Amino acid sequence: MPLLENVSLNALRDELPRAIARRADLLQRLHDEGTDCYRLLHGVAEGAPGVTIDRYGSLLLVQTFRDSLDGAAIDMVQQIVHTALGQDLAIVCNHRGDTPQVGTAHTASATALAETVCHERGVKFAISARHRGQDPWLFLDLRSGRAAVQAAAKGKRVLNLFAYTCGVGIVAAAGGATRVLNVDFAKSALELGNQNARLNSIPGGRCSTLHSDCLPVLRQLAGMPVQRRNKHVSFVRIEREPFDLIVLDPPRFAKGAFGTIDVVNDYQSLFKPALLALAEGGTIVATNHVPTVTTEVWHEALKRCALKAGRPLRDLEPIAVDADFPSFDGQPPLKIAAARL
Ligand SMILES: C[S@@+](CC[C@H](N)C(=O)[O-])C[C@H]1O[C@@H](n2cnc3c(N)ncnc32)[C@H](O)[C@@H]1O
Repeated sequence: MPLLENVSLNALRDELPRAIARRADLLQRLHDEGTDCYRLLHGVAEGAPGVTIDRYGSLLLVQTFRDSLDGAAIDMVQQIVHTALGQDLAIVCNHRGDTPQVGTAHTASATALAETVCHERGVKFAISARHRGQDPWLFLDLRSGRAAVQAAAKGKRVLNLFAYTCGVGIVAAAGGATRVLNVDFAKSALELGNQNARLNSIPGGRCSTLHSDCLPVLRQLAGMPVQRRNKHVSFVRIEREPFDLIVLDPPRFAKGAFGTIDVVNDYQSLFKPALLALAEGGTIVATNHVPTVTTEVWHEALKRCALKAGRPLRDLEPIAVDADFPSFDGQPPLKIAAARL
């Protein structure tokens, strides 16, 4: 298993301080608003192919996707961040390349591996550097989407589809939503969502979780027949109820018992039922994570779908991803949009 080559190590030594300096204004704004989780280095877009560095509260999480880092490199990263932020953060390096990590000279401390709490606009989220899954429990690139939902949530009934650890649902509840329903088929992720609700003293009745495939839930809420591979496949039955704000953050592609999710070729099969499930005057906050789909093409597909569904959009507003996720061409892979009826 190769450790990071010297040339890349030198790049990291040069690029990490530059990347942190480029974020000076953003970090100031985030600190001022009570946010202590953000990306400090974004891989190849910042001259460090295969390396990302994130701060989550007291934790510094390094992820490598090509070659792993050795102990000296990890100590160097910790020192650079300490100098730049004036914060002593506990560091964990997780290698997520094709081959398992072997032979690194770095052992994370017990403090770094303990579950901790980070904050976004004062809202608390549980974080663990290593757990059963691979993804961190809070996706940092969705911060601006969470901020938009939190700002719009007061008095609203919110449906959070593909909820994962309920990050968006938690900020919606913190923003004053009267009801939040988080749906995902990953039970352990929803359990973390419930933990996050407790951390923020949000009553379970106001922010609940539904362990289910999102497709039958969405189609029932839209008043559409549930499609399934065969009639022996059972699904959770739910009553129709209106939602003012629906969050749609689907994976790129998935084939399941209730149909196929394909956000490149068929975003409509999710967006149409979401439109039909939406209360009059409501908003869908939708995402598309596929780099090859441009904002223009995606927006056109959403508008066309809304027209065909008889629910034309009053407004379709892009929500820019924050500057800690820079891209070469100003077209970040994650696109977020607020579609209003
Ligand atoms: C990109 S993550 C969503 C992140 C989440 N919105 C957040 O704010 O952190 C995708 C999630 O979709 C869930 N998922 C994928 N397909 C699903 C399906 N058909 N029904 C329910 N959940 C699904 C996965 O379990 C995963 O938690």
